Parts: sequence; structure tokens; C-alpha cells
Amino acid sequence: MTTRTFDAHDFRRALGNFATGITIITARGADGELTGVTANSFNSVSLDPPLILWSLDKRSSSNVVFEQASHFAVNILAAEQIDLSNHFARSHPDKFAGIAHDSGLGGAPLLPGCAARLQCESFQRLDGGDHWILVGKVVDFDDQGRDPLLYHRGAYSLLMPHPQTPRHHAADPSKGESRLDSHLLYLMLQAVNAYQTSYGPRQQASGLETSEARVLMVLDENPGLDLAGLQHEAAMPASEIEEAMTSLAQRGLLERSPGHCALTAPGQQQVEQLWAIVHAQEEAVFAGIERSDLEIFKRVLRQVIAAH
Ligand SMILES: Cc1cc2nc3c(=O)[nH]c(=O)nc-3n(C[C@H](O)[C@H](O)[C@H](O)COP(=O)(O)O)c2cc1C
Repeated sequence: MTTRTFDAHDFRRALGNFATGITIITARGADGELTGVTANSFNSVSLDPPLILWSLDKRSSSNVVFEQASHFAVNILAAEQIDLSNHFARSHPDKFAGIAHDSGLGGAPLLPGCAARLQCESFQRLDGGDHWILVGKVVDFDDQGRDPLLYHRGAYSLLMPHPQTPRHHAADPSKGESRLDSHLLYLMLQAVNAYQTSYGPRQQASGLETSEARVLMVLDENPGLDLAGLQHEAAMPASEIEEAMTSLAQRGLLERSPGHCALTAPGQQQVEQLWAIVHAQEEAVFAGIERSDLEIFKRVLRQVIAAH
């Protein structure tokens, strides 16, 4: 049987369609040094015995610590922990300097504010190509039930309950409004879903990946933004931003010099096209709605956002 060869970048992109949560996996090494690695390869394996796994890049500087550690902790991140995710996605001589944490089993750091935390005994280490597959036996856990931080196609995402398809009878006045049909969260979810479903394909037709489109639009709004600012505004990890910027520069849409990047003239044209897609989508979704009603709608949304 012949094995199909494929482009590593395309393969990674295809895998990115599988949305995941984000964890920071922590451990203490034999000499007491602490490490933590942002990882989305985490998964559950078995309920009895309670086993989980994740995979660690063999090139990671944290390998020695995980090899020696009797335990490791899986900190499942909550939606507002993007900064922590970005922090533990970079190599650093002391990743825990200035980071609040408690000490768990085997000295593995436990981070506050997570959705849940699993404390594991190191159970098995399997060879998985360019990664080690680390299996842990869960010996303790806590579950705060906070909304999780999600990751999809290179960008941080939020959990949105699936609103199912709209129930058209709500528009029939003779049926009256059910409590569900007038439930604001349910209405907002359905509206966002209706908006997004047709927006994705329109944006993809631009020939850019979502991450590339995001970087271009953020740079257009905030010229001269540095990497930290871009990470914040685009809600993407540094590695994804780097990749998007490299691809945009190769296509002549972005000019990069140390510490600075700017859209080129073709980049400016491309970003105008992207804004045109955004406006066309708005026009299509809100077609037939009075401008004055739209202004009220925007005001209500802004008030809700400001109040919370
Ligand atoms: C969203 C996201 C998910 C990641 N998932 C993994 C993973 O599952 N395994 C891994 O080895 N590295 C993963 N990384 C990369 C590591 O976090 C990063 O290489 C590591 O923290 C670098 O520090 P080190 O020197 O301790 O290896 C991920 C990065 C991001 C941004």
C-alpha cells in the first residue's frame, strides 16, 4: 500500500477542524523545577480505571520534567484564560515566575480560575511519532463548571449552545409566542447562528484562511500593533499569528521588518474586499429592517455589553 504524502501545513489545518478545549499540563521535575505546557491534544481514555492522555512534542524543553515527574496536573482552561494559554505556549526558563498557583500531588502546579483540574499519576509513556503520548491515571479532580476556552482552526473560540433550526411558527401571530420563542438568549443564539452560517463561506471565497483574514483586519484597524497586541485583538496564539503573517508576507499582502509590519497596497486592497464582505453580509442579514430599528438594536446590544 502506498502512503499518500501531504503538506504538513495542510494536514495541521485539516486537523484544526476538530474543535477542542485547551489545557495547561503542569508537573514538577526531580530537582523541583516546575513546568507547564499549553496543550489541546488532551483527551479522555477510560472511566475504569480513570485514564486520560495527551501528547507532548519530543522537541519540547519540558520533556525531561514530564519524564521524571511522578504526577502531572491537567488544568482545563476557562473562557477568560487566553492570556494564560498564550503564556504557557512559549518556551521560558521559568514559566511560573509571577503565575499564581497551588501545589498539587507530586508538586504539580494547580492554576486558579480553571473550568476543572485533574491530578494524575504518570501511568504510561508511549511513542507517538514526533510526540510522546502521556497517559495519566486520575487520582483527584475538581470541577468548577466554568465555561471553557475552546480552540478551532487556529483561533480561540467560545462555547455557544446549539440553537437547532428556527421554529417558524413563532412568526405566526395566531399561535402566540411560546416562552422559548421569546427567550432572549435563545433568540440571540439563533440570530448569531443564522448570521455566521452564511458568513463563513463568503469569507472563505476571498481565498484567505480565517486566521489570515483576522490578522489583516486587525492590522488595518490598529496599524503598527506588536505581536502581543495582535494576540490580544485577534484572539489567536503567537504561533498562529506568526504563521498567518508569514503566509500574508509571502503573498505580498504584508510588509515585515523587525518590530514592525504594515499592509502593502495589495494588502490594503484585500482588506477592503474583506470589509466589503462584512458589509454585504450585514446588508443581507438585516435586509428589510428599518434603519431606525437597527439603530435601536445596536443601542440595546451596546447597553447589554457595557452593563456586563
Ligand atoms: C492552542 C495550543 C495547543 C497546543 N497543544 C500542544 C500539545 O498538545 N502538545 C505539545 O507538545 N505542544 C502543544 N502546543 C505548543 C506548546 O504549548 C509549546 O510548544 C510549549 O509550551 C513550548 O514550551 P516548552 O519549551 O516547554 O516546550 C500548543 C500550543 C497552542 C497555542
